[in-house]
Amino acid sequence: MLNEDKPHFYGRRQGRRLRKAKSTLMDSFLPSLKLNPENPLDFLPKGKKLYLEIGFGDGDHLAEHSKRNKDIYYIGAEVFKNGVANLLSLMTGIKKNEEISGEIALLPERSNNVKIWDNDIRLLFPLLPNACFDRIFLLFPDPWPKKRHANRRFINPENLKTLARLIKPGGILRVATDHNTYKFWTLRQMHQCPDFVWTATCGKDWKNPPADWVETKYQRKAIREGRRPVFLDFRRK
Ligand SMILES: C[S@@+](CC[C@H](N)C(=O)[O-])C[C@H]1O[C@@H](n2cnc3c(N)ncnc32)[C@H](O)[C@@H]1O
Repeated sequence: MLNEDKPHFYGRRQGRRLRKAKSTLMDSFLPSLKLNPENPLDFLPKGKKLYLEIGFGDGDHLAEHSKRNKDIYYIGAEVFKNGVANLLSLMTGIKKNEEISGEIALLPERSNNVKIWDNDIRLLFPLLPNACFDRIFLLFPDPWPKKRHANRRFINPENLKTLARLIKPGGILRVATDHNTYKFWTLRQMHQCPDFVWTATCGKDWKNPPADWVETKYQRKAIREGRRPVFLDFRRK
């Protein structure tokens, strides 16, 4: 039956069939890292920072950022099954062609500070309390460049209202894009949104990656194809 309340998702949920190792990671290891929708913040120790990455793709940024910052807790959201499997591979060190024998565990250099929401992030939003995130990353979101698809873009007044509810005052929404239309769209939407202020004071603040940046698959693709990414930080008022 059609669920009228469920937002429509336009992207891909699955690509190529997963190799055996990744399929095992999805079946046997993902359940231990999945967010508990009954009590989504039950893994967060009191007083610790919480970051959210929306649409983590292959997981390069989330895996590395969470490895570098063991004292920060993360929720990663991604609907694309192959991306989730890749993140699990990065976090366990298990490669796609590897034979898995014995118990699967996080790499010893990692701490257990990541929870995964393997679904549309918009379904998680209503389950989260106000002002729970210190930071939200939206890195290289699908640009939906055609005008008639503009309503599919993640940056829109409804989602911004929700993000403003979820980010603590002083917290950061970081958007990266390599797409000119999406850059201007984001700046216009953010300018019209009373809850955020753009932190940039000069060109290098948004033309160069921030200090804690980790390169992503889509960033590499953009650079290969001659597009220059921008990095836009907005502070919650
Ligand atoms: C263009 S890719 C960028 C991936 C990654 N951030 C990177 O920079 O390589 C956008 C990703 O966002 C995911 N995505 C789009 N809308 C989403 C949503 N509502 N909830 C969760 N993931 C979403 C897509 O499945 C896709 O993997």
